[in-house]
Amino acid sequence: MLMNRAETALVNSPARRWLQRGEAHLLRRLGGRVPGGRALELGCGSGNGTRLILDTFGADRVDALDLDPAMVARARRRLARFEDRVRVAVGSATDLRTALAPDGGEDGGYDAVFDFAIVHHVPDWRSAIAEVVRVLRPGGRFYFDEVTAAALATRGYRWLFDHPTEDRFTGEEFVAELQRQGLRIGGWRTYLRGHYLLGVAERPGGDGESR
Ligand SMILES: C[S@@+](CC[C@H](N)C(=O)[O-])C[C@H]1O[C@@H](n2cnc3c(N)ncnc32)[C@H](O)[C@@H]1O
Repeated sequence: MLMNRAETALVNSPARRWLQRGEAHLLRRLGGRVPGGRALELGCGSGNGTRLILDTFGADRVDALDLDPAMVARARRRLARFEDRVRVAVGSATDLRTALAPDGGEDGGYDAVFDFAIVHHVPDWRSAIAEVVRVLRPGGRFYFDEVTAAALATRGYRWLFDHPTEDRFTGEEFVAELQRQGLRIGGWRTYLRGHYLLGVAERPGGDGESR
């Protein structure tokens, strides 16, 4: 689901970039870096998260996608100097093969997948999680930073922003869905009275070593 104008302005603001830097540091503390790895970012927005995946997490290459062509254009401008390491595509997190064809979105193709506050925008978010599980290699990690049903129900979110109204999740429900789909939870926490959620999960079957 696309963002409305108010949320688009917020996501493109210096305040969001500042906050996202903090989120990335917390996620790195929970899940470690992915040096030399190939990463995927869902819902990349302005491209700031992709930059953090390169710099803070040490990924070598990032495929990024967003449903909104205007955000993809903005991300491409921000990331132009990394064109040999970054690819930004228009598409949905629920169908990565189509979005990232011909050379992305394949089974087990990524060392890490990043969700910086996008899955709560996806009405069929459980399908997006299924795609995350499919594209992670065994031992690969899913870094998530989410907005829960409690936040979306507040007056501020309801007045200012548009979000799917069905099947919203609490932190516990999100984590339970990751486990149900076969991921092993490395660590997670909610903050600000359960309104936000941060965590890392791993696709089992790797050699147990962090890269
Ligand atoms: C709240 S913004 C977060 C943007 C960025 N990740 C950040 O943290 O600043 C959510 C983003 O998800 C995108 N989005 C919404 N539904 C999507 C979907 N099904 N697949 C991919 N991107 C989606 C929106 O266009 C928007 O750019």
